Amino acid sequence: MNVVFYFPLFAVFIFLYLFYYYVVHPAIISPLSKIPPGHPTASFLPLWIWWKRRIGLESRTIGAAHQRLGPVVRLAPNEVSVASLDGLRKIYVGGFNRTEWFLQFSNFDGTPNLASMLHSNVHTTRRRSVSNIYSKSYLFGSSEFQKLAKICVLDRLLPVLEEAARADISIDIYSLGCGFGAEFFSGYAFGSSFGLDLVRRGREDERERFLKNDMTKLMGWKGAKLAAKKLENQLLQMCMAAEKHLKSRSSDVKDGKLQQIESEVLERTSTYPVVYAQLIGSIRTKENISDPQDAMVLAASEIFDNTEASTVGVGIAVTYAIYELSRRPTVQNSLRRELAAAELPLKYPSQQQSLSTMVLRKLDALPILDSLVMETLRRYTPVPGPLRRYVPKGGTTIDGYFIPAGVTISSSSYALHRQKDVYPQAESWQPERWTSTTDSTTIRHSKQIESDESLENVRSEQDLRRWFWPFGSGGRMCIGNHFAMTGQFLRPSVRLRTSTYHFIEIKLLLASVYLNYNTTIIDDFGIQQMDAVVGAPVGLKLVVGLSRVADD
Ligand code: HEM
Repeated sequence: MNVVFYFPLFAVFIFLYLFYYYVVHPAIISPLSKIPPGHPTASFLPLWIWWKRRIGLESRTIGAAHQRLGPVVRLAPNEVSVASLDGLRKIYVGGFNRTEWFLQFSNFDGTPNLASMLHSNVHTTRRRSVSNIYSKSYLFGSSEFQKLAKICVLDRLLPVLEEAARADISIDIYSLGCGFGAEFFSGYAFGSSFGLDLVRRGREDERERFLKNDMTKLMGWKGAKLAAKKLENQLLQMCMAAEKHLKSRSSDVKDGKLQQIESEVLERTSTYPVVYAQLIGSIRTKENISDPQDAMVLAASEIFDNTEASTVGVGIAVTYAIYELSRRPTVQNSLRRELAAAELPLKYPSQQQSLSTMVLRKLDALPILDSLVMETLRRYTPVPGPLRRYVPKGGTTIDGYFIPAGVTISSSSYALHRQKDVYPQAESWQPERWTSTTDSTTIRHSKQIESDESLENVRSEQDLRRWFWPFGSGGRMCIGNHFAMTGQFLRPSVRLRTSTYHFIEIKLLLASVYLNYNTTIIDDFGIQQMDAVVGAPVGLKLVVGLSRVADD
């Protein structure tokens, strides 16, 4: 009798409590209630943004919400998006920890790598031990990188382009660009003889297999686990080959003449496995992993992630640059004139033995090439979505809004790159917007400016370089940004937000194409960008025709 009497009361109490907890508190009492919600339900239900994610409209939806509602938008009861310089400084330079979303980048059954390490302390040791081999000064001065650049561009890429132009065969530039990105990075990681071989003629099927597995794994499509396993095996084999090569280099003459000869031949024909050697050394000594198998799997997980980044990042960037250039013959001509005047040794055929520091520096400093790469990475940012972090203990205040600890907070390059007052006509591809801005180095060298703070002060909030964010910023910024691109020598605190960017892998490919050929679009069906982890073209292709430019 008593139970029956109290049951409705109890049910009402539970209902009121849940109503308070899930509706009244988040929508009215929580400090987040002051932040404009992206959707009327966003304050008390996470369904809206979850659905947009599921149907592949997340970045676009967030971008549009910022246009409507300003720099801080509530996406869900416990999730906020920020599109402001104040936000970038506090969240990313401030070093907020990554959320579990990044765990998807682990490989080998959850073996961590830089991208998937969530806490700063674990991450710092690894990052410190490898960051030097990705720095601009190291890359440009490295004879291994110079030799590798020559092998990838002059020996492997250009003959493929030349044959296509001569035989009037069209080329899928997305596939070739991804293959180039994968091969170039894995050559740097394992040495040119042990890395991937995906660009040369006859390797098309292998390239398609590799890219299909990579995309299936990355997007979590059906068969993702199997695809990941296949790639992991491939990566492990490359690690073993590099390990063997390193051992044979260090073994002394008494191990046998044959081995010594083999090792000398390899040294002449292959580049050094720069990344693998550096990683495996520091994993053994600085991370104290003594088991050789465990150390190798850790190195493989790291290199797998890097190779994937180079594959899709470079593939997407060159696809959209060539797409836009193919529609603008006059811009192609201006670029070609700039390349020709620089006398780069990238004309086919070439007898160069390596691409010297001077050549790389020259390429790096070409303003037209630079501006079109910048604009491509702005308009078609390869990683468009939110880079999620947790607000740490004590909370944070961004653009006047207090955000408590534990809230998921993010910025996304899609939204930042579409700030109307910074990038007028943001949807249109306008490389000239980058050439008309004040170069940060000019300001940097001005005698009146003594400190980073005063440099910050003279920059207007509308400075488009400060909003340029394809690689993130702060201590977790993309480590490969110098590999895909290089930055000016500014102090780190400034570089992260204001550098003039240059993109060496991407630039090498574009320069070799346009110094030798004109491009025209044959098939751009499905060229619009996916709104997903990576912004690849929906059709996963861009087919272009090449025609040789007349020799001067
Ligand atoms: C155009 C090409 C590329 C783009 C657009 C790109 C973009 C990004 C972005 C947005 C992040 C996340 C940053 C964050 O969470 O704050 C990232 C992280 C990372 N990227 Fe890239 N990336 C590119 C190429 C590369 C290459 C070639 C490598 C190879 C070395 C690489 C290695 C990494 C690593 C290791 C991280 C994690 C860094 C850390 O947590 O310390 N990326 N990248």
